[in-house]
Amino acid sequence: METPQTGLSLPKYLQEEELTEECKDKTLPTILTCQKNFQAQDSDIFLATTPKSGTTWLKAIGFALVNRRKYPDPINHPLVTNNPHALVRYLELEPRIDYQADNTSTTTASPRLIATHLPFVSLPESVKNSACKLVYLCRNPKDNFVSVWQFANKVRTKEMGTNPLEETFDKFCRGVNVYEPFWDHALGYWKESLENPQGFLFLKYDDMKEHPEIHLRRIAEFIGCPLSLEEESRGVVDDILNLCSFDTLSNLEVNKSGKLSSGHDTNVFFRRGEVGDWKNHLTP
Ligand code: A3P
Repeated sequence: METPQTGLSLPKYLQEEELTEECKDKTLPTILTCQKNFQAQDSDIFLATTPKSGTTWLKAIGFALVNRRKYPDPINHPLVTNNPHALVRYLELEPRIDYQADNTSTTTASPRLIATHLPFVSLPESVKNSACKLVYLCRNPKDNFVSVWQFANKVRTKEMGTNPLEETFDKFCRGVNVYEPFWDHALGYWKESLENPQGFLFLKYDDMKEHPEIHLRRIAEFIGCPLSLEEESRGVVDDILNLCSFDTLSNLEVNKSGKLSSGHDTNVFFRRGEVGDWKNHLTP
């Protein structure tokens, strides 16, 4: 199927009329530009997620880990004054994809830390062909769905009213989402993590919530900056987890009343941050 404005080919499961104008006019063309032009570097670290699976948390942890020697003081840390989405940008949402390594900038210092919601099949070829590292985070689909639904309601204008739960559920199950069906997304990265464990680390939000310290150490090791014995004895793991926790981040002024350059209020990225909230909204 081709959209008249953009000439984009759409997968069969997507009905053209279900795509928003913003998606047709902005998101999909930007993704195509990124696929064509983005040049990966072997030192790049990608953080890939489905929307509402804990991206904000993973961005905070990734940023804190990679920059822990540069910003050892949790009180004067960039995460205290910046929302994690301002520090780690999305590959496919940047209008200009230049990500030049720049050690003076928090967002583009080398190694570059870059987020993406793209499914594996849609990553730029240069990413697939490089030796970069990719950490994937997914979440149990029921909590993921509830979070998507709640987020969609928060960002709608008052005049638009609330999205009916049944309709949003039907779309989620059919994969009517700019980043593809849930299972295709998760399984695409799962398969890569089995075939190339050096390049892909597959994580689950639910496991991270249960044993955050184990998974923080796994991420550090995987991206090539394992915690030293000296750091372990100084309690760096707990310091990073505290700084990046839901309670700390959601109570910072920047995340209570800030705005991102995308226009989103920063508080929309923090709701409950729990496992099993689906039980409050869905029948088994
Ligand atoms: P809920 O809506 O279930 O509360 P994303 O960051 O991908 O947009 O996902 C948002 C979800 O992650 C929301 O889940 C949000 O509350 C939760 N979240 C945000 N920051 C978090 C953190 N530091 N730790 C754990 N969960 C967090």
